[in-house]
Amino acid sequence: MTVLETIRKRYSCRVYQEKAIEREKLDSILEAARLAPSARNMQDWRFVVVTDSNTKRQVAETTNKPDAFDKAGAIIAACSNSNYVMRCGQAIGPIDVAIALEHICLQAAELGLGTCWIGSFDPEKVKRILGIPDDITVIELMAVGYPADSRPQPRRESIERIACYEKWTF
Ligand SMILES: Cc1cc2nc3c(=O)[nH]c(=O)nc-3n(C[C@H](O)[C@H](O)[C@H](O)COP(=O)(O)O)c2cc1C
Repeated sequence: MTVLETIRKRYSCRVYQEKAIEREKLDSILEAARLAPSARNMQDWRFVVVTDSNTKRQVAETTNKPDAFDKAGAIIAACSNSNYVMRCGQAIGPIDVAIALEHICLQAAELGLGTCWIGSFDPEKVKRILGIPDDITVIELMAVGYPADSRPQPRRESIERIACYEKWTF
């Protein structure tokens, strides 16, 4: 599969089979995260992979779709331990973690797994459930699992609407 084919295959999966994910597949998506670029190569991301059904249910209950996400084989809590701000004024934590998470999404898609980014969750509750220290920020959750739905037609803007060459022409 080409990279673009894998990108086209990915979608936000919100219906999962209640099926465990093989350890090699989890290891392989974590390897994809590990190889992601990060500002100053700081790699200040940490990932807690939750597969235990009781813990997964508790984490899912902090989200807006508990009955969907608790069926996923895993919920990954993607964390950052960096407060570093780049010269451009942007914090690296959410950016670096987002890149690594998208690597996870694409590698999962390649392996036939569905994923869903979850920004609608309670980070303080997640920290308590998973024993994450106070100085660590939970940036996002990500559901990963065998899909029980299929990819809808993506709704996206045209390239002309989102990009231009040389000068701002919007
Ligand atoms: C940063 C971020 C946070 C998101 N949070 C949620 C969420 O909390 N719950 C959810 O169901 N989908 C969430 N999504 C999924 C988006 O709704 C989805 O990516 C978008 O509608 C495009 O659809 P697609 O992913 O199927 O292409 C999130 C996506 C991103 C990138």
